Amino acid sequence: MTYTPYAERRQRLQAQVRQGIAIIPTAPEVARNADTHYDYRHDSYFYYLSGFAEPEAVLVLLGGEKPQSILFCREKNPEREIWDGFRYGPEAARAHFGFDAAYPITQLDEKLIELMGDRTTLFYPLGADAAWDARIIKLRGAVKAKARSGILAPGEIRDVRELLDEMRLLKDAHELDIMRRAAAISCAAHRRAMRHTRPGQFEYEIEAEFLHEFCRQGARQPSYTSIIAGGGNACTLHYVGNNARLNDGDLLLIDAGCELDSYAADITRTFPVNGKFSPAQRDVYEIVLAAQLAAIAAALPGNTWNAPHDAALNVLAQGFIDLKLCQGSLESVLKTESYKQFYMHRTGHWLGMDVHDVGEYKTGGQWRPLQPGMTLTVEPGCYIRPADNVPRELWNIGIRIEDDVLITAGGNEVLTQDAPKTVADIETLMLR
Ligand code: GLY
Ligand code: MN
Ligand code: MN
Repeated sequence: MTYTPYAERRQRLQAQVRQGIAIIPTAPEVARNADTHYDYRHDSYFYYLSGFAEPEAVLVLLGGEKPQSILFCREKNPEREIWDGFRYGPEAARAHFGFDAAYPITQLDEKLIELMGDRTTLFYPLGADAAWDARIIKLRGAVKAKARSGILAPGEIRDVRELLDEMRLLKDAHELDIMRRAAAISCAAHRRAMRHTRPGQFEYEIEAEFLHEFCRQGARQPSYTSIIAGGGNACTLHYVGNNARLNDGDLLLIDAGCELDSYAADITRTFPVNGKFSPAQRDVYEIVLAAQLAAIAAALPGNTWNAPHDAALNVLAQGFIDLKLCQGSLESVLKTESYKQFYMHRTGHWLGMDVHDVGEYKTGGQWRPLQPGMTLTVEPGCYIRPADNVPRELWNIGIRIEDDVLITAGGNEVLTQDAPKTVADIETLMLR
């Protein structure tokens, strides 16, 4: 039988829930307009524990001596299935996904009132959705109303995400296998973009190359809206207009990655529209690349979360002084934060099912140490908007270089190394 990690993850959560009960709903469908919906995306926590991708489903876990995992989902419906396609229904879902029991979603409230009885703590995504908050309080009230028959309602309510975030932060073998494949597809898309880009095209034509490569390799969606930013558009950090013409002599910054089987890749590359860096573009690019390599070299087990950021910042700040973008000593540029005119974001984030994945960055008030199994992005950049204090030849240069990195016992693995990033590799790939 194929290895599926979901039952194992449920057991790990049940061991922490003990005499409590955990309730984890999936995401709702969201209407786009009239009869159409946004593409359905299940809730990451729910899917992490179930592998079940249908909407209108809730997972309930009981810990303690008789642990149970129970799915509530849509019933079979031959009429609806003609229109919308296959749905498991409780019995087939139970058998296929290995739950102890499964019931129609319509029985959720009634069953929850039973299942909550005599459970100590109630875990659910507290505060994530106002309707769920109200529903949980109401259901707990219904259990409380049974006090005279000796049934106790949970005395404490906790956010189940506190437990799940820590689990999701350390990726298992199943997750890493998918993340490596998501990374490989996204690298192929970046290479395709470099091969296809020509002066005079529009940014959306390059976006189309990404969507084409993602989809043809089985990754139907990007993991976030692709940023395809030519010239000065690259200095808008979250530019998603993607509708400007690409000019000869400009750089093109592309921040794009696919979602595969619920896992994100997140890659940025910056390259010349005409295939050849100008001397000024190259000077800035080499600084950002050196900062990125220094940050990756600092992404090691035992180093703190902040070590890659500090490493990148040191290289960038010195580079900004060399380019006459910043004045003074390295120490003073870091202290006064004058570098923030050109580098105003942090150097990365956790990566996983969500592109900005879950997990605390500090524990006990300190930056947390990196551990094998953590996955993060390393993405320094430099964004030079026109300004009086900036040499003119540097105006509108926006560069970011972003890779996805797995912390390993011996150091790290760059999951996205097949997307070219040295000047020589980019110019060679773009030779025309
Ligand atoms: N693509 C989003 C980010 O780089 O954080
Ligand atoms: Mn990105
Ligand atoms: Mn990122």
